[in-house]
Amino acid sequence: MEARIAGRVLVLVGFMGAGKSTGARALAAGLGSEALDSDRVLEQRLGEPIESFFDREGEPAFRAREEEVVLELLERPDARVVALGGGALASERVREALAAHTVVHLEVEPEEAWRRASNHGRPLARDPARFARLHSDRLALYDSVADVIVPPGPREGIRHALPALKALAETPAGTRLVWASAASGEYPVFLGEGLVASGFFYPRARRRFVVTDENVARAVPFEGDERIVIPAGEEHKTLAGAESVLRRLATAGAERGDLVVAVGGGVVGDLAGFSAAVYQRGMPHVQVPTTLVAQVDSAYGGKTGVDLPEGKNYAGAFHQPAAVLCDPALLATLPPEELGAGYVEVVKTALIAGGPLWSRVRRGEEVDAEVIMGCLRTKLAVVAADERDAGRRQVLNLGHTVGHAIEAATSYGRYRHGEAVGIGLLVALRLSGREPLRAEVADLLAGRGLPLAFDGASVDEVLELVERDKKRAGGRVPFVLVQAPGEVTPGHEPDPRLLRAAVEEVHAG
Ligand SMILES: NC(=O)c1ccc[n+]([C@@H]2O[C@H](COP(=O)([O-])OP(=O)(O)OC[C@H]3O[C@@H](n4cnc5c(N)ncnc54)[C@H](O)[C@@H]3O)[C@@H](O)[C@H]2O)c1
Repeated sequence: MEARIAGRVLVLVGFMGAGKSTGARALAAGLGSEALDSDRVLEQRLGEPIESFFDREGEPAFRAREEEVVLELLERPDARVVALGGGALASERVREALAAHTVVHLEVEPEEAWRRASNHGRPLARDPARFARLHSDRLALYDSVADVIVPPGPREGIRHALPALKALAETPAGTRLVWASAASGEYPVFLGEGLVASGFFYPRARRRFVVTDENVARAVPFEGDERIVIPAGEEHKTLAGAESVLRRLATAGAERGDLVVAVGGGVVGDLAGFSAAVYQRGMPHVQVPTTLVAQVDSAYGGKTGVDLPEGKNYAGAFHQPAAVLCDPALLATLPPEELGAGYVEVVKTALIAGGPLWSRVRRGEEVDAEVIMGCLRTKLAVVAADERDAGRRQVLNLGHTVGHAIEAATSYGRYRHGEAVGIGLLVALRLSGREPLRAEVADLLAGRGLPLAFDGASVDEVLELVERDKKRAGGRVPFVLVQAPGEVTPGHEPDPRLLRAAVEEVHAG
């Protein structure tokens, strides 16, 4: 039997039906040990099913016994992996005891949890409305103690996360791990302040080929066996740029057991990721995002590519990273205009997420590791549901239809991508008929000095480009609209007159 990971027990927490017992068994098997399940041990101790004790003695009596059992389990020398009952974290003593261990939050969608947990006599899974309330109340509690977050999904494969869970022990205190999964692969996202400066790296590889741009090379020291420095800027995200990276890899003798490490913003991430996707038909890559856009959005999800003169991101491949190392401390050297452009992606993502992320973002606070975590979880959840952009993933294009058209109509020189998307968001909210929300978003953008209107192109030029997009997409203008924060849907076809009016409204003349 393997020792505990860094002396810590892996403790699985999460709502009813999250798959804690299955996950615990899978992780324990990976460690060559047995999983312990607090509900099972408690039932043995009570000598009866939890439901009957709960119904007869009431919740406080049940929680007291549960606390006793959980504290005891965490102390057991043979404990490697422990699954906790969904309500065990209500106890402050349990929460305190967990600080000495690695806590893994297994997430589950409320509908899925209800499907799995109802009809089993569970005392707190008898009334759907109460169940849904409990789910949302407890999420914050699980997150407050979690070192590791595993999004909804099947649990049997969770043992693939063990090497990353072990590596977490080598990261600076406070670093968290999100286990990302999409149809074509799973990978860890490490999020921690000072992660890069600490010298942490994952995964092991024979050699690391660091691809970065000249600005990032000055700002972010990053060691590698080879360093490939490209010129900064979207204009270098081209096939010629990719060719030069590929040839550098080839002349240095890169092989499939080596790693490409993309250290930079979305431009480096897309270009280096694409090079990794096609070099010898695919080698692994790691993303180290250094801009806000990249930390909240572009580093995750496996879309890589370059621009053609005919269109942005016209040549590309889906290629999930082997890991993402996200360090908010790297943003310290980012120019303010780039932070502003990234802020638009934060607002967009918060509108898609709704809930606690939107509540934080709408207060207009600084973007910190917590907000970055909320954004990346939202992006990963969307990608997990639809890696290849067949449906749900299109919500990530909120604000992009008109945003892209403004960028193209102004020859990509006048507005940063994020700035144009910010204006596009205002159009999308107008088309959604959500006036108070539009005003709120406009205030947030204005507070960061972002433009609320465009110039340098006419309304007709922008509408023409939207129309051209429509032809390319087989007759659909896939507008993403917002019913409310957290309720965002793709595939809308707005009335052309309303669209014109909404674009005129954001035209500075
Ligand atoms: N793959 C995806 O899913 C996805 C999603 C969104 C955007 N994107 C792509 O991302 C690109 C935009 O990315 P971006 O906004 O990060 O731009 P970027 O990569 O061009 O970076 C912006 C500028 O900041 C500099 N920089 C980066 N990190 C720095 C740091 N820490 N300190 C100082 N300077 C730093 C860069 O050199 C550059 O000049 C676009 O090409 C877009 O298509 C891709």
